[in-house]
Amino acid sequence: MQTGTGRAVSNIRELYSAKQISDRIAEMGRQISEDMKGCERPVVIGVMKGAIIFMADLVRNMAGKDPLQIEFVRLSSYGSATESSGTVQAPYLDLPNIKNRHILVVEDIVDSGRTATFFLQYLRDQFDPASLRLAVFLDKPSRRVVPIEADYVGFTIDDLFVVGYGLDYSEKYRELPFLGELLSTD
Ligand code: IMP
Ligand code: MG
Repeated sequence: MQTGTGRAVSNIRELYSAKQISDRIAEMGRQISEDMKGCERPVVIGVMKGAIIFMADLVRNMAGKDPLQIEFVRLSSYGSATESSGTVQAPYLDLPNIKNRHILVVEDIVDSGRTATFFLQYLRDQFDPASLRLAVFLDKPSRRVVPIEADYVGFTIDDLFVVGYGLDYSEKYRELPFLGELLSTD
């Protein structure tokens, strides 16, 4: 597979091209803006590191009446393996006072559901949000351990380990402009 930067990646099978992704995210941005048009000063919280590229594209496709406030946290449940570790860690969880605000959480993927469940509950407990929504680039429903459904899903995928467009395997491949299945780990 030849990437946008001309780099060949032989162990990755493309699932969604950069164009398919940008078309889908434009739709998602429109939908979210429509649903949140009555919300005053929405806060969009990106979950690092996986969501940074999705977040950057999504917010540029959101056009509401009020400017957005953008925040980031860093959560991890995977470590460097391709299996969830079962516990959620929060290496960076430093949010300003966003009590009673309208919050949109932006995540790369819902897999077991542990990370998203932990973080949504944390936000409810800390900030009693006026509204709380979850937008994910990918959903892998077949892997769910904790029942949770995102409000907005870019693509629903099978039980495959995927990389690119922000998602990594062992801190590699986040920069790929497309989404692909990792076929081998060497
Ligand atoms: P969950 O807590 O099991 O839902 O997993 C959430 C985190 O696991 C995501 O934010 C990703 O960082 C990581 N993850 C889950 N599936 C994949 C995958 O297929 N590729 C890369 N990272 C993944
Ligand atoms: Mg990860």
